[in-house]
Amino acid sequence: MSRRRQIYEGKAKILYEGPEPGTLIQYFKDDATAFNAQKKGTINGKGVLNNRISEHIFTLLSTIGVPTHFIRRLNMREQLIRQVEIIPIEVVVRNVAAGSISTRLGIEEGTQLPRTIIEYYLKDDALGDPLIADEHIACFGWASQEEMNDIADMAIRVNDFLCGLFAAIGIRLVDFKLEFGRLWENDFARVILADEISPDGCRLWDMASGEKLDKDRFRRDLGGEAEAYQEVARRLGLMPEGEATPVLDLDSHRKKRGK
Ligand code: TMP
Repeated sequence: MSRRRQIYEGKAKILYEGPEPGTLIQYFKDDATAFNAQKKGTINGKGVLNNRISEHIFTLLSTIGVPTHFIRRLNMREQLIRQVEIIPIEVVVRNVAAGSISTRLGIEEGTQLPRTIIEYYLKDDALGDPLIADEHIACFGWASQEEMNDIADMAIRVNDFLCGLFAAIGIRLVDFKLEFGRLWENDFARVILADEISPDGCRLWDMASGEKLDKDRFRRDLGGEAEAYQEVARRLGLMPEGEATPVLDLDSHRKKRGK
């Protein structure tokens, strides 16, 4: 690759120094991890699809007034973003019970929640990203009360918008994770949406069949993860017209597993 200075390497992305001060280049890898990187693998073409899907969603969000770090896509795997100070909190929004809330509280997967839940997890791999409460955030100063109000407001706006966007293409938005960052302007910091929104950090279920179209295919060894990510991109209208797109055949993966 190039001689650009690498700023940070995460599990699914690399950040490089950008062309101008205050900018970074976000590179999307095909690497996939789960369970705090205890399970590792690759999903062919994931980086290209997530770059494109995240570009699409962040662009739409900015048109409804949600500020984001996204500036523009540079190529198949890279996008130019604003450099922010990442707030060390993973914000999870849940509409339907699945994953950790189901195991932690014994709520059956697929149960529609009577109201949307926002949860906070400390972004700390060494601690396994523990669930935290507002009290911890205030006590340890990870974010101010004002920042948390802005974060909760944006998370709800993003959820309302994405629920509609996905419902229109036959997908149920079960839950998703957001990250936010501080954008410093002189002595004032504004909170904006950062990281990515892609099938890596969302649970997306086909409304008709219930098939999982997200990283749970990898986490749970269901197979067909590349096809599922492509299907999300295709329904969002992001696959090039005329290019033969593989038909979604998640059924064959189910058969292979003998279920
Ligand atoms: P969970 O049910 O495992 O807590 O996950 C909730 C949502 O957050 C799910 O859509 C996947 C996403 N997520 C991430 O993006 N990164 C993570 O490290 C974890 C644990 C979950």
